[in-house]
Amino acid sequence: VSRIIPVETFDLVVFGGTGDLARRKILPALFKRYCSGQMPEGSQVIGAARSELTEEQYRASVAEALREFAGDAAQDVAAVSGFCDHLHYVAVDARGESGWGDLAALLNEGSVRAFYFSVGPGVYSDLAKGLKRHGLTEANTRIVVEKPFGHDLETAQKLNQELAQYFDESQIYRIDHYLGKETVQNLMAVRFGNMLFEPLWNAQYIDHIQITVAESVGVAGRGEYYERSGAMRDMVQNHLMQLLCLIAMEPPSQFEPDAVRDEKLKVIRALDTVAPHHIVRGQYTAADGADSYREDVDNPRSKTESFIALKCQVNNWRWAGTPFYLRTGKRLSERDSEITVMFKDTPHSIFGDEAGRHRNELNIQLQPNEGITLKVTIKEPGPGGMRLVDVPLDMSFAEALGPKGQGAADAYERLIMDVIRGNQTLFMRDDEVEAAWAWTDPIIRGWEARGDVPKPYDAFSFGPDDAALMMRRDGRNWRGLG
Ligand code: BG6
Repeated sequence: VSRIIPVETFDLVVFGGTGDLARRKILPALFKRYCSGQMPEGSQVIGAARSELTEEQYRASVAEALREFAGDAAQDVAAVSGFCDHLHYVAVDARGESGWGDLAALLNEGSVRAFYFSVGPGVYSDLAKGLKRHGLTEANTRIVVEKPFGHDLETAQKLNQELAQYFDESQIYRIDHYLGKETVQNLMAVRFGNMLFEPLWNAQYIDHIQITVAESVGVAGRGEYYERSGAMRDMVQNHLMQLLCLIAMEPPSQFEPDAVRDEKLKVIRALDTVAPHHIVRGQYTAADGADSYREDVDNPRSKTESFIALKCQVNNWRWAGTPFYLRTGKRLSERDSEITVMFKDTPHSIFGDEAGRHRNELNIQLQPNEGITLKVTIKEPGPGGMRLVDVPLDMSFAEALGPKGQGAADAYERLIMDVIRGNQTLFMRDDEVEAAWAWTDPIIRGWEARGDVPKPYDAFSFGPDDAALMMRRDGRNWRGLG
């Protein structure tokens, strides 16, 4: 089922090559691409970090990371060692002089060259400068930068300006791994590959849209970062915003980087300023054996939100009057990410009230159990008269594409290969990130100015009651979670 698109021979340098993201995501993703035959002979993955490690030590530590994070494929000793043959390590001092020459010596002329900045944003511009100064870049060199891309509009602009001194925008790949998720891309296929949906995809036929990204994990272990971010910066400004864009954007004329990103940008710029009573912030408290947020971040007075629900509007012709409800949080009852497009009631029921009234609902399940279902109304089977029931039309990928793992690659696998292929469609452009911050900043400033304290909610619950209330006031209910 899976079709391997050949890529050119590449050198991928992972700065922060010993770090958590490299071990959990980047290296396992590369390993899986290797197993699928998508790492051409002569390609190299070069870990770079501060510690002095020998190549042997690095390979051993990566092999261990693969066994922990790369699933069943990593139980195959020959595969792991075959992948490790492509691995190298150099100790590089991002801010100093040491290591750059060793790195330069490793790189192959003629290979696609990509540098993955899997480090804190404070080091991005040092790395960019270092690469240029030591002559490591070529015309088609690419850099990959992780989130958080800035802390607010000002810092994001500064970062963009710094990177722009050394690289052209076409060389900069800002990752939002949500864009690499299988269902997220399927959302575009469903919208723009079918005649069925697009004519109805507007305020006239859609009652509202909801996006939930719920996690059951807490923030233990990342407390320092999270305490400065909160759910708004960590999830809404990037991942949920990207999902909203793909739902709300106009059809791009082509599936090409700038055509898609132009349309997403227009959506972000059309977002309204969210009124304070359309925002619910929450913070989890200890329950069911889990510590509270404040314990996890070791700050008894923390006012950072681990949950947020908000209602916003896209102020354009297509969406005028259609609310978008966004919700995300940690330590919720389950891991469940989904988008629901709720269609309006039929204008008139010919079957009378007895039959019941039902709505079409398009549900896009991101994780777990990726898939898309469309709820349609039919007659309840049997001789009992004309009563209506809902049945799901199931576009579940597991059935269509075979067991998971064959059809669905991890988001990082796809995105890293897009970098190697030089395709920026699923990466964020400078103006897009800035527009997202321009929308986020006043909301955050608003609650800071009001001294807003997040509402407590029990660990492993559905979040604060106020989030459900906000929906109910509008005569609606959240989908998913319980
Ligand atoms: C990251 C956030 O960007 O996305 C994390 O920093 C969050 O806080 C993660 O847990 C969620 O990603 P996924 O793919 O597990 O839904």
